[in-house]
Amino acid sequence: MFNWEVLHRVNSALLGVFIAAHLGVHLLAVHSPEAHALGLAWMRRYYSDWRIEAVLIASLLIQIVSGWAELRLTVKPGWRLVRNLSGLYLAVFMLTHVGSVFHARHVDQVPTDFYWVAGAFTVDILRNYAMAFYGLGVFSLFAHMIAVAALAWPGMPWRLNLALWAVSASVTAAILLAFSGTLYALAIPETVRAYYEAYW
Ligand code: HEM
Repeated sequence: MFNWEVLHRVNSALLGVFIAAHLGVHLLAVHSPEAHALGLAWMRRYYSDWRIEAVLIASLLIQIVSGWAELRLTVKPGWRLVRNLSGLYLAVFMLTHVGSVFHARHVDQVPTDFYWVAGAFTVDILRNYAMAFYGLGVFSLFAHMIAVAALAWPGMPWRLNLALWAVSASVTAAILLAFSGTLYALAIPETVRAYYEAYW
């Protein structure tokens, strides 16, 4: 029988490189939107090649399909349940997030940069949704990895486990604070504001 679990594990190494760099770039927003733009431009040098982008999107879909094939929600409370629930949210998040990136970029012709995300945080009706959507996206990624590590290493010291949760909460909070304009005043371009207001 086909082994989805092995595919999920092997593919996570490839996807993991992108996600680590992607979140690293978003952390640059703690410094400034300009720092974020530099990081994004650096990453785009690689994935703006359609062949690399196709591999990336294929890897994302493989991760979702292979995770779905293995998904069981009727498991006892514990690390396995944390892993499965966070994986389920990640799948929903990744599909919605990448879908809206592509829609904005190719259908609405809006630049998908720092201000595109930050703009969603400044529209009243979207603000709480954007906070929850992105916050849970980042946090569930960390929760998923911590649960996988805890299952693979049952004797993991509780101090290390606690430290990993603290890092997860800090990275999530740093990204939310930067994009929501809490760390510095944001000058959202009029075009981005009009884009969101036309929808909501
Ligand atoms: C689990 C976490 C995340 C995953 C797996 C993820 C995945 C992706 C993927 C696959 C793309 C499309 C890349 C392409 O153009 O081919 C993308 C684009 C993008 N993501 Fe995320 N993302 C995550 C979290 C976030 C967060 C937290 C933010 C912002 C707060 C964000 C903002 C963006 C932006 C602005 C783009 C467009 C980049 C561009 O136009 O080059 N992402 N993301």
